[in-house]
Amino acid sequence: MIDLHTHILPAIDDGSKDWDESLEMVREGANDGIKTIVATPHHMNGVYKNERNEIIELMFQLNHLIKEEGLDVKVLPGQEIRVYEQFVADLKKGRLLTFNDRHKYVFLEFPYDRVPVGADQLIFDIQLAGYVPIIPHPERNHDLRDNPIKLYNLVKRGALTQLTAGSLLGLFGKEAKSFSEEIIEYNLAHMIASDAHHVGKRGVKLSEAYQSINKMFGSQIESYFKENANSIIEGRDIYTDPPYKIEHNKGFFHFLKEKIL
Ligand SMILES: [Fe+2]
Repeated sequence: MIDLHTHILPAIDDGSKDWDESLEMVREGANDGIKTIVATPHHMNGVYKNERNEIIELMFQLNHLIKEEGLDVKVLPGQEIRVYEQFVADLKKGRLLTFNDRHKYVFLEFPYDRVPVGADQLIFDIQLAGYVPIIPHPERNHDLRDNPIKLYNLVKRGALTQLTAGSLLGLFGKEAKSFSEEIIEYNLAHMIASDAHHVGKRGVKLSEAYQSINKMFGSQIESYFKENANSIIEGRDIYTDPPYKIEHNKGFFHFLKEKIL
Protein backbone atom coordinates (compact mmCIF):
# COMPACT_ATOMS: atom_id res chain seq x y z
CA MET A 1 0.00 0.00 0.00
CA ILE A 2 0.91 3.62 -0.52
CA ASP A 3 0.23 6.26 2.12
CA LEU A 4 -0.09 9.64 0.41
CA HIS A 5 -0.37 11.91 3.45
CA THR A 6 1.79 11.79 6.59
CA HIS A 7 3.55 14.07 9.02
CA ILE A 8 6.40 11.63 9.44
CA LEU A 9 9.40 13.95 9.19
CA PRO A 10 10.73 14.86 12.64
CA ALA A 11 10.31 18.14 14.49
CA ILE A 12 9.15 20.33 11.62
CA ASP A 13 5.41 20.47 12.26
CA ASP A 14 2.80 19.00 14.62
CA GLY A 15 3.69 15.47 13.52
CA SER A 16 6.60 13.27 14.59
CA LYS A 17 8.64 14.88 17.37
CA ASP A 18 12.00 13.18 16.68
CA TRP A 19 13.78 10.49 14.63
CA ASP A 20 12.69 7.75 17.04
CA GLU A 21 9.05 8.60 16.57
CA SER A 22 9.51 8.86 12.77
CA LEU A 23 10.98 5.36 12.71
CA GLU A 24 8.21 4.11 14.98
CA MET A 25 5.67 5.51 12.50
CA VAL A 26 7.48 3.76 9.63
CA ARG A 27 7.36 0.49 11.58
CA GLU A 28 3.66 0.95 12.30
CA GLY A 29 3.06 1.59 8.58
CA ALA A 30 5.16 -1.43 7.56
CA ASN A 31 3.14 -3.63 9.94
CA ASP A 32 -0.01 -2.33 8.29
CA GLY A 33 1.33 -3.32 4.85
CA ILE A 34 2.56 0.07 3.66
CA LYS A 35 5.64 0.09 1.45
CA THR A 36 5.58 3.68 0.24
CA ILE A 37 5.00 6.72 2.43
CA VAL A 38 4.72 10.28 1.16
CA ALA A 39 5.99 12.81 3.70
CA THR A 40 3.71 15.85 3.53
CA PRO A 41 4.70 18.41 6.18
CA HIS A 42 2.50 21.46 6.66
CA HIS A 43 3.43 24.53 4.66
CA MET A 44 2.04 28.07 4.86
CA ASN A 45 -0.76 27.14 7.28
CA GLY A 46 -0.11 30.15 9.47
CA VAL A 47 2.07 28.19 11.89
CA TYR A 48 4.51 26.13 9.83
CA LYS A 49 6.63 26.90 6.80
CA ASN A 50 8.56 23.97 5.43
CA GLU A 51 10.47 24.67 2.25
CA ARG A 52 11.05 21.99 -0.38
CA ASN A 53 14.82 21.65 0.10
CA GLU A 54 14.48 21.08 3.82
CA ILE A 55 11.80 18.42 3.24
CA ILE A 56 13.91 16.61 0.65
CA GLU A 57 16.96 16.67 2.91
CA LEU A 58 15.03 15.16 5.86
CA MET A 59 13.45 12.59 3.56
CA PHE A 60 16.91 11.40 2.48
CA GLN A 61 18.00 11.12 6.11
CA LEU A 62 14.87 9.16 7.05
CA ASN A 63 15.30 6.80 4.10
CA HIS A 64 18.88 6.22 5.23
CA LEU A 65 17.72 5.31 8.76
CA ILE A 66 15.00 3.05 7.35
CA LYS A 67 17.61 1.19 5.33
CA GLU A 68 19.82 0.80 8.39
CA GLU A 69 16.83 -0.70 10.24
CA GLY A 70 16.33 -3.14 7.36
CA LEU A 71 12.72 -2.06 6.76
CA ASP A 72 11.18 -2.48 3.31
CA VAL A 73 9.65 1.02 3.12
CA LYS A 74 10.46 4.05 1.02
CA VAL A 75 9.63 7.66 1.86
CA LEU A 76 8.86 10.09 -0.96
CA PRO A 77 8.63 13.88 -0.85
CA GLY A 78 5.44 15.91 -0.66
CA GLN A 79 3.99 18.96 1.08
CA GLU A 80 0.60 19.85 2.55
CA ILE A 81 0.22 23.39 1.29
CA ARG A 82 -2.43 25.75 2.64
CA VAL A 83 -4.07 28.19 0.21
CA TYR A 84 -2.07 31.43 0.11
CA GLU A 85 -1.77 34.34 -2.23
CA GLN A 86 1.38 33.30 -4.06
CA PHE A 87 0.35 29.65 -4.42
CA VAL A 88 0.22 29.53 -8.22
CA ALA A 89 3.17 31.87 -8.70
CA ASP A 90 5.34 29.74 -6.38
CA LEU A 91 4.09 26.54 -7.98
CA LYS A 92 5.10 27.81 -11.42
CA LYS A 93 8.53 28.82 -10.08
CA GLY A 94 9.03 25.26 -8.80
CA ARG A 95 9.18 26.42 -5.17
CA LEU A 96 6.42 24.06 -3.98
CA LEU A 97 6.67 20.29 -3.67
CA THR A 98 4.32 18.23 -5.78
CA PHE A 99 3.72 14.55 -4.99
CA ASN A 100 7.01 12.70 -5.39
CA ASP A 101 8.30 15.87 -7.09
CA ARG A 102 6.62 14.76 -10.33
CA HIS A 103 5.23 18.22 -11.15
CA LYS A 104 1.73 16.90 -11.54
CA TYR A 105 -0.35 16.50 -8.35
CA VAL A 106 -0.25 19.05 -5.55
CA PHE A 107 -1.98 19.30 -2.16
CA LEU A 108 -4.25 22.31 -1.76
CA GLU A 109 -5.37 22.60 1.86
CA PHE A 110 -8.24 24.85 3.01
CA PRO A 111 -8.70 26.28 6.50
CA TYR A 112 -10.75 23.75 8.53
CA ASP A 113 -13.79 26.04 8.83
CA ARG A 114 -14.27 27.42 5.33
CA VAL A 115 -13.70 27.26 1.63
CA PRO A 116 -11.70 30.39 0.81
CA VAL A 117 -13.19 32.99 -1.52
CA GLY A 118 -11.67 32.48 -4.95
CA ALA A 119 -11.09 28.73 -4.50
CA ASP A 120 -12.77 28.00 -7.85
CA GLN A 121 -10.49 30.42 -9.67
CA LEU A 122 -7.46 29.03 -7.85
CA ILE A 123 -8.31 25.50 -8.96
CA PHE A 124 -8.68 26.75 -12.52
CA ASP A 125 -5.32 28.56 -12.37
CA ILE A 126 -3.52 25.53 -10.92
CA GLN A 127 -4.80 23.40 -13.79
CA LEU A 128 -3.94 26.06 -16.32
CA ALA A 129 -0.37 25.91 -15.01
CA GLY A 130 -0.39 22.15 -15.75
CA TYR A 131 -1.01 20.72 -12.27
CA VAL A 132 -3.85 18.84 -10.58
CA PRO A 133 -4.93 20.01 -7.10
CA ILE A 134 -5.79 17.45 -4.43
CA ILE A 135 -7.92 18.70 -1.52
CA PRO A 136 -7.01 16.82 1.68
CA HIS A 137 -9.69 15.76 4.20
CA PRO A 138 -12.75 17.58 2.76
CA GLU A 139 -14.88 15.55 5.20
CA ARG A 140 -13.45 17.53 8.10
CA ASN A 141 -14.12 20.96 6.62
CA HIS A 142 -17.15 22.56 8.32
CA ASP A 143 -18.11 24.72 5.35
CA LEU A 144 -18.08 21.71 3.00
CA ARG A 145 -20.10 19.68 5.48
CA ASP A 146 -22.74 22.42 5.67
CA ASN A 147 -22.63 23.18 1.95
CA PRO A 148 -21.67 20.00 0.12
CA ILE A 149 -22.59 21.66 -3.17
CA LYS A 150 -19.30 23.53 -2.79
CA LEU A 151 -17.43 20.22 -2.82
CA TYR A 152 -19.33 19.15 -5.92
CA ASN A 153 -18.34 22.40 -7.65
CA LEU A 154 -14.66 21.97 -6.75
CA VAL A 155 -14.58 18.38 -8.02
CA LYS A 156 -16.59 19.30 -11.11
CA ARG A 157 -13.91 21.88 -11.87
CA GLY A 158 -11.21 19.22 -11.75
CA ALA A 159 -10.01 19.06 -8.14
CA LEU A 160 -9.38 15.63 -6.63
CA THR A 161 -10.04 14.85 -2.97
CA GLN A 162 -8.36 12.67 -0.34
CA LEU A 163 -10.31 11.27 2.58
CA THR A 164 -8.60 10.50 5.87
CA ALA A 165 -8.63 6.82 6.83
CA GLY A 166 -9.49 7.67 10.45
CA SER A 167 -12.60 9.59 9.36
CA LEU A 168 -13.98 6.47 7.71
CA LEU A 169 -13.24 4.52 10.87
CA GLY A 170 -15.13 7.02 13.02
CA LEU A 171 -12.06 8.41 14.80
CA PHE A 172 -13.09 12.01 14.08
CA GLY A 173 -16.73 11.58 15.07
CA LYS A 174 -19.97 10.46 13.53
CA GLU A 175 -20.39 13.48 11.28
CA ALA A 176 -16.97 13.11 9.62
CA LYS A 177 -17.66 9.40 9.14
CA SER A 178 -21.09 9.79 7.56
CA PHE A 179 -19.94 12.69 5.37
CA SER A 180 -16.95 10.59 4.22
CA GLU A 181 -19.33 7.83 3.19
CA GLU A 182 -21.51 10.29 1.29
CA ILE A 183 -18.46 11.75 -0.43
CA ILE A 184 -17.55 8.29 -1.73
CA GLU A 185 -21.14 7.44 -2.64
CA TYR A 186 -21.45 10.57 -4.78
CA ASN A 187 -18.13 10.11 -6.63
CA LEU A 188 -16.51 13.02 -4.82
CA ALA A 189 -13.50 11.09 -3.42
CA HIS A 190 -10.47 9.79 -5.28
CA MET A 191 -8.13 8.38 -2.64
CA ILE A 192 -7.59 7.79 1.06
CA ALA A 193 -4.52 8.34 3.21
CA SER A 194 -3.64 8.17 6.90
CA ASP A 195 -2.66 11.81 7.59
CA ALA A 196 -0.68 10.16 10.39
CA HIS A 197 0.83 12.62 12.86
CA HIS A 198 2.01 10.18 15.54
CA VAL A 199 1.88 6.52 16.40
CA GLY A 200 -1.27 5.24 18.06
CA LYS A 201 -4.37 7.43 17.93
CA ARG A 202 -3.31 9.56 14.97
CA GLY A 203 -1.32 6.71 13.53
CA VAL A 204 -1.48 4.68 10.38
CA LYS A 205 -4.68 2.69 9.92
CA LEU A 206 -4.89 2.35 6.19
CA SER A 207 -5.61 -1.37 5.81
CA GLU A 208 -8.57 -1.17 8.18
CA ALA A 209 -10.00 1.79 6.26
CA TYR A 210 -9.58 -0.04 2.93
CA GLN A 211 -11.36 -3.05 4.43
CA SER A 212 -14.23 -0.87 5.54
CA ILE A 213 -14.45 0.69 2.05
CA ASN A 214 -14.49 -2.77 0.53
CA LYS A 215 -17.30 -3.80 2.85
CA MET A 216 -19.42 -0.70 2.25
CA PHE A 217 -18.72 0.08 -1.42
CA GLY A 218 -17.16 -3.05 -2.91
CA SER A 219 -13.75 -4.08 -4.14
CA GLN A 220 -13.92 -1.85 -7.23
CA ILE A 221 -13.80 1.34 -5.18
CA GLU A 222 -11.03 -0.09 -3.01
CA SER A 223 -8.97 -0.93 -6.11
CA TYR A 224 -9.78 2.43 -7.68
CA PHE A 225 -8.40 4.31 -4.64
CA LYS A 226 -5.32 2.08 -4.50
CA GLU A 227 -4.58 2.51 -8.20
CA ASN A 228 -5.03 6.26 -7.92
CA ALA A 229 -2.46 6.41 -5.12
CA ASN A 230 -0.03 4.66 -7.43
CA SER A 231 -0.77 6.97 -10.36
CA ILE A 232 -0.32 10.02 -8.17
CA ILE A 233 3.21 9.14 -7.08
CA GLU A 234 4.10 8.19 -10.64
CA GLY A 235 2.58 11.37 -12.08
CA ARG A 236 0.15 9.51 -14.34
CA ASP A 237 -3.37 10.64 -15.26
CA ILE A 238 -6.21 9.14 -13.28
CA TYR A 239 -9.69 8.34 -14.48
CA THR A 240 -12.55 10.07 -12.70
CA ASP A 241 -16.25 9.25 -12.80
CA PRO A 242 -18.62 12.21 -13.00
CA PRO A 243 -19.51 13.52 -9.54
CA TYR A 244 -23.07 13.89 -8.21
CA LYS A 245 -24.49 16.62 -6.02
CA ILE A 246 -25.07 15.82 -2.37
CA GLU A 247 -28.26 17.62 -1.50
CA HIS A 248 -29.17 17.14 2.13
CA ASN A 249 -32.82 17.01 3.17
CA LYS A 250 -34.01 16.21 -0.29
CA GLY A 251 -34.43 12.50 0.26
CA PHE A 252 -33.46 9.34 -1.47
CA PHE A 253 -35.67 9.86 -4.52
CA HIS A 254 -33.88 13.05 -5.35
CA PHE A 255 -30.57 11.17 -5.13
CA LEU A 256 -31.93 8.48 -7.45
CA LYS A 257 -33.07 11.09 -9.93
CA GLU A 258 -29.65 12.73 -9.87
CA LYS A 259 -27.99 9.39 -10.57
CA ILE A 260 -30.35 8.39 -13.36
CA LEU A 261 -30.95 11.67 -15.20
FE1 LIG B 1 -2.01 16.63 7.15
